[in-house]
Amino acid sequence: MAELNLILLGPPGSGKGTQGERLQEDLEFPYYATGDILRAAVKEGTEVGKAAKEYMDRGDLVPDEVIIGIIADRLESGEADHGFILDGFPRTVPQAEALDSKLTDLGRALTAVILIDADDEEIVRRLSGRRVCQEKGHVYHVEFNPPAEDGVCDVDGSELYTRDDDKPEVVRHRLEQYHEKTAPLVDYYKKQGLLNQVDGADDPDRVSEKIRTLVSTLSLEEG
Ligand code: AP5
Repeated sequence: MAELNLILLGPPGSGKGTQGERLQEDLEFPYYATGDILRAAVKEGTEVGKAAKEYMDRGDLVPDEVIIGIIADRLESGEADHGFILDGFPRTVPQAEALDSKLTDLGRALTAVILIDADDEEIVRRLSGRRVCQEKGHVYHVEFNPPAEDGVCDVDGSELYTRDDDKPEVVRHRLEQYHEKTAPLVDYYKKQGLLNQVDGADDPDRVSEKIRTLVSTLSLEEG
């Protein structure tokens, strides 16, 4: 398989985690979702988790230097040498510049950025109904993607919970942060000719289909 170095970009709740999980099953590359990595660090009570928690609870971004180090370590580890899927990173222009520079040092480059977009109203609806599994972070929605048994993960049987930062007032703040700090990356990657936009308002299977088609084309081009 060709090396594919992919980024999933988009506002909170646009479906990056849902699609990232499916893409990982297809491609079997390491999948690095910075929100999941940080939540695991908070749960384990590590130094990174302690530093990140207050930012996450408020819906603010954690400082660039914390998150850049986390991704740099993974890229340097060798486990992502044949490709990777990044979800939720980069989220600021300095993070994007740090990623470019790390990849250049490693003699590598991004293959594509997949922007999954959805409007603010849809996002508030989605996040208010989201449920996440305690064990591995599998994602459900009470209406759009319900588990077979109420409150229980289909995959590992663990209990489902509502994320603290899915409270309506925190969701609004996360959206403000997205528009102010992350949306400029759309132009950043457009200028590099890397941006591919997918309409995240479609149903999840249709979004997956479009991403699969795009990834097949990229594989052929890279292969
Ligand atoms: P993170 O966990 O990355 O949150 P996010 O980007 O806000 O994204 P979400 O996980 O909320 O949404 P998603 O796009 O993955 O949507 P999902 O698939 O779950 O980050 C959390 C926090 O960590 C940040 O606020 C920040 O503090 C910190 N952080 C993380 N990375 C950072 C970084 N790089 N720099 C600084 N700080 C960082 O879907 C949402 C819901 O919709 C689900 O219920 C799902 O079932 C449903 N759904 C999905 N697709 C569809 C569809 N097509 N139609 C209908 N429903 C759908």
